[in-house]
Amino acid sequence: MLSDYLNKVFHCDAMTLLKRLPAESIDAVISDWMYGTSQSRACLYDWGCDPAKGNAKKHWQYHQPLYEQCRRVVKPNGIIGIAQGAKFAYDGYFDTWFGGHRIWLLGRFVQVQFACHVWMVQTANQHPICFPNASGIIRQNRRALHELSQHHPCPKPTEEMHFMVTHLTKPGDIILDCCCGLGSTLVAAAQLGRRYIGCDKSRRYCQIAMNRLQPINMNGSTTGRLSIVDDCGVGGTAIQVPARHAQDMAFPHHT
Ligand SMILES: C[S@@+](CC[C@H](N)C(=O)[O-])C[C@H]1O[C@@H](n2cnc3c(N)ncnc32)[C@H](O)[C@@H]1O
Repeated sequence: MLSDYLNKVFHCDAMTLLKRLPAESIDAVISDWMYGTSQSRACLYDWGCDPAKGNAKKHWQYHQPLYEQCRRVVKPNGIIGIAQGAKFAYDGYFDTWFGGHRIWLLGRFVQVQFACHVWMVQTANQHPICFPNASGIIRQNRRALHELSQHHPCPKPTEEMHFMVTHLTKPGDIILDCCCGLGSTLVAAAQLGRRYIGCDKSRRYCQIAMNRLQPINMNGSTTGRLSIVDDCGVGGTAIQVPARHAQDMAFPHHT
């Protein structure tokens, strides 16, 4: 049942989770896939290097099955928002791969540099979704992002995910991030009263995501048991991390 998956972080391959989710059950997939644009540090995860290493074809071969599953699990008028490397966005790949879509450009200042983030946004039927009538400049908490960056090569600022969640979903909606990393999408979802399903193939990232979610859940802004579930076994071992253990972890509790 879908309720078995809600407000949980799964440690498994995205495909394993996606295949188990019922068709047309998710309001929005908001997910920040691997960028695959270079061999730089941005590709180096704790389980190894992004296999695409700058090769667009390999990048798509890896992600296409995930994309097709995302389209299957999203409700007919639901939403798919996928972050994408700008290199692939402007090489013509977006149009070939994703059909109708809108590119949403979100900008943020990183010290003195300005970084642009590319999101492909569409419905399950590939209808493009217009950019909202709002500024696309994100004010980020630099210190918080710096701390996240100690644990992951390319975390999203929570503020950016607030923007996406606010403009693509409404309270109570179910948001899936099947490559959740440190969980910024899930944190934004929980803070904004949405339900979430998260997944990453790194157990360490899942743990940090859950650690960030724990205080939000304890404050009552979301409901449901907080757990990492290994191997996506819904009936299997759900690992509850008590607050005491959460505090023992190196990662701080701010969001
Ligand atoms: C660009 S990062 C996401 C960062 C995330 N938005 C955050 O705020 O931390 C992509 C993530 O996808 C995960 N990933 C890559 N392939 C995966 C797969 N097949 N299944 C699950 N997770 C995967 C990586 O471990 C990585 O954490």
